[in-house]
Amino acid sequence: MLFDTEFPTRAWLASGQALPLRGSRISGSWSQPDGLLTEFGCGLAGSAQVVATPAAAHQSQPGSGTTKGQSRQWGARSVDVFQSVEQIGEGQYGQVWLAREQEGDKTVMVALKKIKMDNEKEGFPITAIREIKILKNLRHPNIVRLREIVTSKASDNNKQKGSVYMVFEYADHDLMGLLLSPRVRLEKPHIKRYMKQLLEGLHYLHTQKILHRDIKGANLLITKEGDIKIADFGLARSYNDPTVALTKKVITLWYRPPEVLLESDKYGAPADIWSVGCIFAELLLKHSTGQYRNVWSLPNGEGGPHNETEQINKIFDVCGTPTRESWPGHDQLPGMKNLKFKPKPTTLAALMREQCKGLDEATELPFCQAMLTCNPDKRLTAKEALDHDYFWKPPLAAESHEMPRLGEACHEWQVKQRGRREKRENQAGHQHPPHQGGPIGVARPAHVPPSNKMPRAGH
Ligand SMILES: Nc1ncnc2c1ncn2[C@@H]1O[C@H](COP(=O)(O)OP(=O)(O)OP(=O)(O)O)[C@@H](O)[C@H]1O
Ligand SMILES: [Mg+2]
Repeated sequence: MLFDTEFPTRAWLASGQALPLRGSRISGSWSQPDGLLTEFGCGLAGSAQVVATPAAAHQSQPGSGTTKGQSRQWGARSVDVFQSVEQIGEGQYGQVWLAREQEGDKTVMVALKKIKMDNEKEGFPITAIREIKILKNLRHPNIVRLREIVTSKASDNNKQKGSVYMVFEYADHDLMGLLLSPRVRLEKPHIKRYMKQLLEGLHYLHTQKILHRDIKGANLLITKEGDIKIADFGLARSYNDPTVALTKKVITLWYRPPEVLLESDKYGAPADIWSVGCIFAELLLKHSTGQYRNVWSLPNGEGGPHNETEQINKIFDVCGTPTRESWPGHDQLPGMKNLKFKPKPTTLAALMREQCKGLDEATELPFCQAMLTCNPDKRLTAKEALDHDYFWKPPLAAESHEMPRLGEACHEWQVKQRGRREKRENQAGHQHPPHQGGPIGVARPAHVPPSNKMPRAGH
């Protein structure tokens, strides 16, 4: 078994001690049947009682734990029921593995996300708690399905460090992996299908009063049938109560909207739509140039903003400086205090015309502009976006059978790893054989975006 790690599970898997939960009002104990997973609210309808005792957690055998039509007991099974195939992701908050499980004569492929617990003293990470709590209540074809939680027992094989894993349905690619792969061609009907599904998933989330707060290519999984699954709910939260102040440290820099950059603590669903606008521009740029380009790195496509100040300046350069008429109240936001912006008109249309050959000025351009609108109250909602002319005028969104079938799995982390390996080998004078068969090449692109990481915490 390959899954071993660092971590505190040892503290509770071995001893059944109460588990301190970082920054969370939730508390739980693995020594009680209604312990941590029940605190997550993981006793799903149809599932039997959640078993959270260290002993019970490892009694199950491969393939056990489910009867037809019944949900698994979350936390009841050991990770040993899965066979690891390869690593597919490495985030700041966990490693992700492709793994398989034999269920009778059926092989089920899953993604295992190991919850990283670098600091034992701080307890079970709040990001993982949020992700599990939120995902357990969501059911939508464009939201990744969390199948169950499994654990590994502390043993000599893993230096007495057990772990907790989220078990997800598996998707062959993520959007960033596709954007970074030079051989992937995206046609307009493909883009329309991705956009439609992304907005349908987001509309569902917003009707459930959930903000995702980290929409970007690497968090949008793509199945081999060409379906989008929104993933990575580590920064998501529910926003039922508009009086609660929200953290400003959310959303990866290049996808972060002006209201969050200007430190509003009352942002909402429009923040996710801004990120969708950035992704739409990336898809159009990929269609035209064949390469990954972030809209804020234009015109030359290299570099891009490195910090909040550069980012907000770049946004205002491209989208125009807001005025009291175009965005009432923006000058009262905390982030405006120390900043001065020269009035500038928008250059977004000119930039997109110049960079995207064959841009449809009647539909694509206004659709992009309506999502990249600085005033969040004037930005399209997910519902309005789904009803935009863009979706009603030809070419229509591709059907599943018209989507590109790719030769190999393509996740951001894998593509970058392969690129690095090829570069090393090239430097060492290795000749690569020509790419065989599959349509995807994985040479490192000229410009690979930074991961734009930020600490995940707060509201
Ligand atoms: N269900 C899945 N199927 C296939 N690949 C997945 C799945 N879940 C995650 N991945 C891959 O693993 C990567 C990291 O997963 P995820 O974003 O959930 O973790 P994270 O630790 O929060 O990452 P980060 O800190 O980079 O945002 C994803 O970008 C994706 O490439
Ligand atoms: Mg992620």
